[in-house]
Amino acid sequence: MPFTIAIDGPAAAGKGTISKAVAAHFGFAHLDTGLLYRAVGRKVLEGAKAVTAAQTLEAEDLQSGDLRTPEVAQAASKVAAIPDVRAALVDFQRAFALRSGGAVLDGRDIGTVICPQADTKLFVTASAEVRARRRYDELAANDLADNYETVLADVKERDARDMGRADAPLKPAADAVLIDTSDLSIESAIAAAIAAIDARRA
Ligand code: CDP
Ligand code: CDP
Repeated sequence: MPFTIAIDGPAAAGKGTISKAVAAHFGFAHLDTGLLYRAVGRKVLEGAKAVTAAQTLEAEDLQSGDLRTPEVAQAASKVAAIPDVRAALVDFQRAFALRSGGAVLDGRDIGTVICPQADTKLFVTASAEVRARRRYDELAANDLADNYETVLADVKERDARDMGRADAPLKPAADAVLIDTSDLSIESAIAAAIAAIDARRA
């Protein structure tokens, strides 16, 4: 049976960093599902209709560099509240999760909706202030952020929209292992994730 790891959590909690390290550690494939919503969000900013953009999404749409901007993140969280957008992206994610070599998927609804049967579910969090500081540093390094306060407001707005939507809201699965990275180094957060996964594989 393929082994599937679901990693969910709010914006800039460290999901991607942990997912990449976990995938490398176990030799699994990794899918950042946020990129799917970001790619749809970017197409909407360019004038496309959200549902059409989701239904016609192609691999190359996930490749270009400008998916990490705050504008695209906000557009992503708006299109992510549309049920037909989410529905159009389900099959691709579930097929990825069942890859024979094992898979790590990170997002908001992986453990609750996309892969409720995942072998290990992690819910990665940190305080909004810590997350905004990390995201600010990351964006500033790429000349993409104005100031910390704007990034904090952006993160809080996105979290509220993601937690408040009716379809696949952001929340921990009942059987998820919680990892609060507020006071953890990247190395410690990765070690905590690997320990939780090892416990399930044993
Ligand atoms: O994928 P997600 O938006 O949840 O977060 P990320 O992109 O993995 O992490 C956001 C930023 O926080 C990155 O620049 C990481 O290097 C940093 N980070 C950190 O400083 N400490 C951690 N324990 C985890 C991530
Ligand atoms: O990296 P960060 O956590 O800031 O964002 P992301 O994971 O790239 O996700 C961008 C947006 O896509 C989120 O704010 C959610 O609205 C949406 N999303 C979702 O609804 N479901 C997922 N599985 C992944 C992302």
